[in-house]
Amino acid sequence: MKKRVLLIDDEPRVRASLKMVLEPTYDVITAADAQEGLDLFRRESPNLVLLDVIMPGTDGLTVLQAMRAEDRSIPVIMLTGTKSVKTAVDAMKLGASDYLSKPFDVEELRIVVARTLESHDLEREVRYLRAQVVNRYAFHNLIGKSPAMQEIYAKIEQVADSRTTVLITGESGTGKELVARALHYNSSRRDRPFIALNCAALPETLIESELFGHEKGSFTDATARRVGQFELANSGSLFLDEIGDLSPVTQAKLLRVLQEREFTRIGGVQPIKVDVRIIAATNKNLDDLVRRGTFREDLYYRINVISLYLPPLRERGEDIPLLAKHFLDKRIEEEKRPPQEFSKEAIELLSRYPWPGNVRELENVVEQALLWSQGATILPEHLPTSLRSDSRSS
Ligand SMILES: Nc1ncnc2c1ncn2[C@@H]1O[C@H](COP(=O)(O)OP(=O)(O)OP(=O)(O)O)[C@@H](O)[C@H]1O
Ligand SMILES: [Mg+2]
Repeated sequence: MKKRVLLIDDEPRVRASLKMVLEPTYDVITAADAQEGLDLFRRESPNLVLLDVIMPGTDGLTVLQAMRAEDRSIPVIMLTGTKSVKTAVDAMKLGASDYLSKPFDVEELRIVVARTLESHDLEREVRYLRAQVVNRYAFHNLIGKSPAMQEIYAKIEQVADSRTTVLITGESGTGKELVARALHYNSSRRDRPFIALNCAALPETLIESELFGHEKGSFTDATARRVGQFELANSGSLFLDEIGDLSPVTQAKLLRVLQEREFTRIGGVQPIKVDVRIIAATNKNLDDLVRRGTFREDLYYRINVISLYLPPLRERGEDIPLLAKHFLDKRIEEEKRPPQEFSKEAIELLSRYPWPGNVRELENVVEQALLWSQGATILPEHLPTSLRSDSRSS
């Protein structure tokens, strides 16, 4: 298919002659003024624009600015009547790709247009390839290129779209909640609610009413009817964090919802049907809890249909520099600070430390280092002493 070139020039003679030169190779559309030019720019999505600088009414530089505000990538070549270098420089500053001065040399015109289109294609390809590379190191908001993380990305993709319950395990701070979100946002439920409930944070008496809701007057404090998280999460996902901390009574009720896909509000009689995808997480060893009798075996089998294990950070050392850089860039971006980097020695220290608090601890350390470093390169002295003292022995 021919590439489309939009030519904007107020002189009919210029339009006719340029069209004649370019027409055999390109699909040329023309406009006689700024307004018409911008209309065609929006409507016809040209691959390249030839834009006259001096036109009655709105001039070319203004048009260039308007185009750049809408799309930074489409190359624009300015056509200058005068040999004014100043105008050309101004245009390049505003994002023009090149300029041609009138009267045109036909050969030069052909070459400049062809070359500009070529380098534009190349740029796009580089951008595309770069995005591909980044993707292998990241999935949703998860960062990591270690085989363990790659495997997690693959599993998330495989199971995201089913309704199967997923159990995410791993030490504290390894990214379990982030994985739960990645599951939800990669599923067809992504436009429906993702509701997170921390089972450890609520006292026994409240958790049931949180989960299932209650009818007015069902207990002393129930002054109004309350809709529970199961209902709120309907057709979406419910993330039950720290599921190992649920009491036996609540475990039994949860089991029933998972089996029947329905429940009743506390004090209610009507069963309520729900379609909720359960994602559970724990940093405890559920096997152990089952053996000790504090976690129901039948519930364990119900939620452990598919399990995702997040290894501790110290077992995926190649992710440490990547994560450190990610958190640094994120902070810098959030606080609009000038760009900053880690020294080689700082990266070495980060890589050697065993990270008992895993990714969360790393994130905190990077944040502190950014404060200490005061805008300079991050050096070992900006890192906490626990990292600098000999951590190899621990
Ligand atoms: N692979 C990762 N890429 C980017 N950020 C991550 C990654 N893993 C964890 N994080 C970040 O680290 C912090 C801790 O992660 P998260 O809360 O998901 O851990 P967790 O396993 O749920 O911890 P806990 O068991 O203590 O609840 C969060 O700020 C999260 O964004
Ligand atoms: Mg968590």
